[in-house]
Amino acid sequence: MDKKKKNSMDFGEFVDVFGNVIERCPLIAAKKKTQRPFSDLEDLKKHFFAFIDALPQKSQEGILRCHPDLAGSELRRGTLTAESQREQSAAGLTSLGADERLRLAELNAQYRARFGFPFVLAARFSDRAAVSRELARRLLCPSAQELRTALGEVKKIGSLRLADLLRADPAKL
Ligand code: GUN
Repeated sequence: MDKKKKNSMDFGEFVDVFGNVIERCPLIAAKKKTQRPFSDLEDLKKHFFAFIDALPQKSQEGILRCHPDLAGSELRRGTLTAESQREQSAAGLTSLGADERLRLAELNAQYRARFGFPFVLAARFSDRAAVSRELARRLLCPSAQELRTALGEVKKIGSLRLADLLRADPAKL
């Protein structure tokens, strides 16, 4: 996507393109539109992530709660966003056996009960065994640390999605 095109997009177009960089949080893209122009991918990333960092803790937890469970009911019902579907698929979560699915569902439920938000992991960097392992490990972490870890994963997911969006356009930055 060339810089001129990105910066000349109207509001609706910008939110359509960047609205799911942070899962189901188009408001963040909408806010970023008002801060254009951006010089490059790093600049765009910096703006998205500074917005998240500046939020109060309750709102940061709200961002996490916009994420579906990994290998959860939304995947079964086919109601994931296209991005989440691709990422969960890349980690092999769309082809789990019944036992693996049950184990992940139990761990996801324990995690939610403990922290009040779903387990978020940049699934594209992972595989099905690593997802369960990491979930079991993070379940034991202190709450403040876990919030920081989870937000770090949101940023990794956002970085990958932004990079995809800009790569998809041959006249990128
Ligand atoms: N990692 C990558 N995508 C997702 C998602 O949609 N949900 C969760 N929980 N983690 C993810």
